[in-house]
Amino acid sequence: MINIVLFGAPGCGKGTQAQRLKEHYGIDHVSTGEVIRDEIRRGTELGRSMEQYIKEGKLAPDAIVIGMIANYVAAHKDAKGCIFDGFPRTTVQAEEFDRILEKEGLKVDIMVDLHVPEEELVKRLLLRGKDSGRADDASEEVIRERLAVYHRQTAVVADYYTAQQKYAAVNGVGTMDEVFDRIAAVIDGLK
Ligand code: AP5
Ligand code: MG
Repeated sequence: MINIVLFGAPGCGKGTQAQRLKEHYGIDHVSTGEVIRDEIRRGTELGRSMEQYIKEGKLAPDAIVIGMIANYVAAHKDAKGCIFDGFPRTTVQAEEFDRILEKEGLKVDIMVDLHVPEEELVKRLLLRGKDSGRADDASEEVIRERLAVYHRQTAVVADYYTAQQKYAAVNGVGTMDEVFDRIAAVIDGLK
């Protein structure tokens, strides 16, 4: 089983590339952002408790997101592999993730960190915001807050995987095919 953490700032292309990687390698894809948006759409109690965080561009509480991933891993432990998109996003999440995987005899194989300059990220998200319907794409103010949260709380998670020698930075600028080829080269290099 191969477990890939797809990492990077909002708008760097995690969802786009996860979709392609999923098809190419026949592995699963889980996005904590999508799980949360789905809970909100369905109007569940969990969803209602998350709405405000998303709208403001803040992170959801660690305990809730960790619980989601623990459930996911328990239900998919026999998968060929998985792309974790948008998780872990804090050091606490990264530490708990290792424990959750370890319990099943699993591990993270690589973190792929997509690098894209800030202004390009804002441009992409404003463009998507025109028709995505995502509450957190609605204004430049919220987009800038998401980026600030990324720098404040999330960027440091790269150090966690660097210390484990599981870190690969990939240039996320270029066509979607170009970025895909760069990520695939990293993954194929693991085998
Ligand atoms: P999440 O859903 O993870 O959103 P995000 O990290 O803000 O990232 P996005 O989904 O906006 O961007 P992406 O990197 O997937 O890029 P995409 O492929 O869409 O999280 C949302 C919220 O949920 C968080 O703010 C938080 O509140 C909560 N949350 C989630 N996980 C959490 C966690 N672990 N802990 C706590 N809270 C959590 O691409 C973006 C756009 O660019 C698209 O329009 C795309 O078409 C375009 N694009 C993609 N690639 C290219 C390219 N190469 N060139 C030009 N355009 C491109
Ligand atoms: Mg996404």
